[in-house]
Amino acid sequence: MRIQSGMRQLGWALLMSFTVVQGAQAAPASAPPVSYGVDSDTFHPVKAQHGMVASVDAMATQVGVDILKQGGNAVDAAIAVGFALAVTHPQAGNLGGGGFMLLRTASGRATAIDFREMAPARASRDMFLDKQGNADSKLSLTSHLASGTPGTVAGFALAAQKYGTLPLSTLLAPAIKLAREGIIVNDALADDLATYGKENIINHANSRAIFYKADGQPYQKGDRLVQKNLAHSLQLIAQQGPDAFYKGTIADEIAGEMAQHGGLIGKPDLAAYRAVERKPVSGTYRGYEVFSMPPPSSGGIHIVQILNILENFDLAKWGFGSADAIQVMAEAEKYAYADRSEYLGDPDFVKVPQQALTSKAYAKTLAQQIDVNKARPSAEIKPGKLEPYESNQTTHFSVVDKEGNAVAVTYTLNTYFGSGIVAGNSGILMNNEMDDFSAKPGTPNVYGLVGGEANAVQPAKRPLSSMSPTIVAKDGKTWLVTGSPGGSRIITTVLQMVVNSIDFGMNVAEATNAPRFHHQWLPDQLRVEKGFSPDTLRLLEAKGQHVKVLPAMGSTQSIMIGPDGMRYGASDPRSVDDLSAGY
Ligand code: DON
Repeated sequence: MRIQSGMRQLGWALLMSFTVVQGAQAAPASAPPVSYGVDSDTFHPVKAQHGMVASVDAMATQVGVDILKQGGNAVDAAIAVGFALAVTHPQAGNLGGGGFMLLRTASGRATAIDFREMAPARASRDMFLDKQGNADSKLSLTSHLASGTPGTVAGFALAAQKYGTLPLSTLLAPAIKLAREGIIVNDALADDLATYGKENIINHANSRAIFYKADGQPYQKGDRLVQKNLAHSLQLIAQQGPDAFYKGTIADEIAGEMAQHGGLIGKPDLAAYRAVERKPVSGTYRGYEVFSMPPPSSGGIHIVQILNILENFDLAKWGFGSADAIQVMAEAEKYAYADRSEYLGDPDFVKVPQQALTSKAYAKTLAQQIDVNKARPSAEIKPGKLEPYESNQTTHFSVVDKEGNAVAVTYTLNTYFGSGIVAGNSGILMNNEMDDFSAKPGTPNVYGLVGGEANAVQPAKRPLSSMSPTIVAKDGKTWLVTGSPGGSRIITTVLQMVVNSIDFGMNVAEATNAPRFHHQWLPDQLRVEKGFSPDTLRLLEAKGQHVKVLPAMGSTQSIMIGPDGMRYGASDPRSVDDLSAGY
């Protein structure tokens, strides 16, 4: 089995010098030029000269554009968007969750800020197992045990202090106003409250009081939603800085809520929380540089790994949507997700073989195993039994400022509205990120992902993530800023943004709108969106792929910078109420 011999292969790959690959073809030079949205294109990005913000929510995008116009840089604008989304997009925007920020400065320096949640000190390996020793997803998704210690406020504060230009209070002001004066509920929020609120929010009085009306119905489109307690919490952070959240009144509310209902987050956990600056994962793809999120996200490593494999095939010659291109990409994805389950975890706890996994040599050994005509069954790679799950929360936003600084942020509560639990009187929805740990090695989590010991629950550990804020540079200059929600499908969604742009010459709107597909090794299923030709799907079946047409994947929010210096923004048509705007 490949998995068992994986370590040996990895070690060998590191030692291996350049070898000739059979079956895989040399990197092509045939990719068409990118058009950047000229008249003949099918879809057009939003175009602006100075700065651009792309986010899942039009109100939050506007906040970001206003900060840029005030003279804030991309980091300032991103932080303001992040705080605004906590108010306007509580499905995923948050103070009670965590995530990642990737930054590439105009001078070309790339850095990453990890503000992923941490397991509380009293967390333990088997905390999500029932009496029979089976993983109980209710505990890891909707109970007070579901929450890790939140990182968002620490992450934004660190980013503002090191890379921002405006005071935190200025960046919080628009969010405070939106929470205090209320927002007009849009389609996205109304639909998600109606659909998902009844699974979590409705069960908790604090949460119900915010998102449900006196008549027992959730807020609907066109209603004004005022979040007074959240406004107060934001105001405290504006006045006292992140200590208000980690040591002060908000910490009291969170720890009090947890103590009262059997949760584990205590004041010492909050006081000990630190956001961490990390070196991004980097790689190259057909002459472009790729920067993405390092562990505890698996995203960067596996995007670079898959791109390294794909470099051995002439995707451009096959063309977008061809059965051969999809086949090779899906096969590459299987190998990457198999490795993910074995090797990836919090780098502060486990040794992640990052260099080996992202080496061109290792990718060549994998490319050699890929047959363009015949799918390798996942069971031959490693057996497993999984249930797929539908969900699409988490949110990504991208910002480019007039200097050319670029910021990509993906942050989340995990599933829609997190655990659905609002901490005391804070107005803050808590995450259910603990479900991203492997509750029981070999048992799939909410995204059908299996994990091993590397991602087992341990005190103060960060659960493995797939969030992949990504920046691609061309000739030393930032070219594409992108990212997406989608759980396990984030990695392949971002991958397709890169491949659609580089190999298939699509402008950023076309790359966004093009139908997507996804293979995550287990289950052995090639998940496709509607929009591919039935002939192509039949050809893929004939190659041995188990094709299934399922709902849309991801919600990318991307910006491309053209050779003319123009900023081109594209928000995903799969989301409603999202917006790219610039000035
Ligand atoms: O960190 C992760 O990989 C997940 N908690 C992200 C969740 C997500 O994207 C939700 N959308 N499907």
